[in-house]
Amino acid sequence: MLSVAFLGLGAIGRPMARRIAAAGFPLTVWNRTSARATAFARETSAVAARTAGEAVEEADVAVTCLSTSADVRQVLDGGVLESLKRGATLLDCTSGDPATSRRIAEQLGARRVSFVDAPVSGGVRGAEDGTLTVMCGGEAADLERVRPVIESFGKKIVHCGPVGAGDAVKAMNQALLALTIWGTGEALVALSKLGVSARVALDVINASSGRSNASMNLFPERVLTRAFPRTFRLALLEKDARIAAQIARDERVPAPLTQLAADLCTLARKELGEEADHVEAVKVIEAWAGAEVR
Ligand SMILES: NC(=O)c1ccc[n+]([C@@H]2O[C@H](COP(=O)([O-])OP(=O)(O)OC[C@H]3O[C@@H](n4cnc5c(N)ncnc54)[C@H](OP(=O)(O)O)[C@@H]3O)[C@@H](O)[C@H]2O)c1
Repeated sequence: MLSVAFLGLGAIGRPMARRIAAAGFPLTVWNRTSARATAFARETSAVAARTAGEAVEEADVAVTCLSTSADVRQVLDGGVLESLKRGATLLDCTSGDPATSRRIAEQLGARRVSFVDAPVSGGVRGAEDGTLTVMCGGEAADLERVRPVIESFGKKIVHCGPVGAGDAVKAMNQALLALTIWGTGEALVALSKLGVSARVALDVINASSGRSNASMNLFPERVLTRAFPRTFRLALLEKDARIAAQIARDERVPAPLTQLAADLCTLARKELGEEADHVEAVKVIEAWAGAEVR
């Protein structure tokens, strides 16, 4: 059985690592804030390593799930690169940027370590249930080798193309997510002010052509209930939308809406703070309008 190291026990990394442990893979974990790793090891069969380098020494597959590709770069330079064994694979589940992933893959390749970018979608609940969508970039043979590990937390696993292709698809998906949250927020605040209940409006929209994950799931579960659980930071959605806008610029595709998605995320994050959840962006529209979605 492949032995696995997992670096980054954040909001989504934790349930993903828990699935890997539950599937029976020998697992070593590391987290920058070490208390998270020791707590995880107490609750599972995993071993907590003192350093990231120590965590990956014996690993066939090292999984990273950090905030950004720059953080992956930093962890690699901080001892992981030199500790990875020949023939190992770095499976990067960070929602990263393609250009940095390509540079990392090149550097690892020189040490006979392969790289697969494998960002995920489906949220914390999808990670807990093992139903994440996993979009992969890299060599098909490298993906096949690590597929059993991905299958412990992913349901739909798609090979999107060469290194960076998974990151690119993820970034575009996220820009669409930001746009649908914002657009649905504008529509429902306006309808609420007009006197149409948001519940009634969503009932219609979700049986019509304006529906989306935002209207079908996020608004009913998080906005109408005013629960706004903190599962995915707005700052991370902002990072994703910025990557999407950069890809469009690199490819010389005029993309005003993608850029707007990034700028609106920045505006909302400045208003609401680094820890705000992505769906809380709706609160900015509500504050501007002086009315809540109700
Ligand atoms: N949450 C979701 O629903 C979701 C869904 C799909 C994709 N994603 C993506 O998955 C990735 C992780 O997201 P998350 O929600 O788990 O984020 P998070 O809760 O903010 O956790 C970030 C993790 O990265 C670690 N980290 C950040 N910078 C680091 C650095 N420079 N060196 C070492 N460790 C570092 C943090 O360590 P500390 O504990 O020390 O802070 C933490 O373990 C992101 O790319 C995000 O866009 C998240």
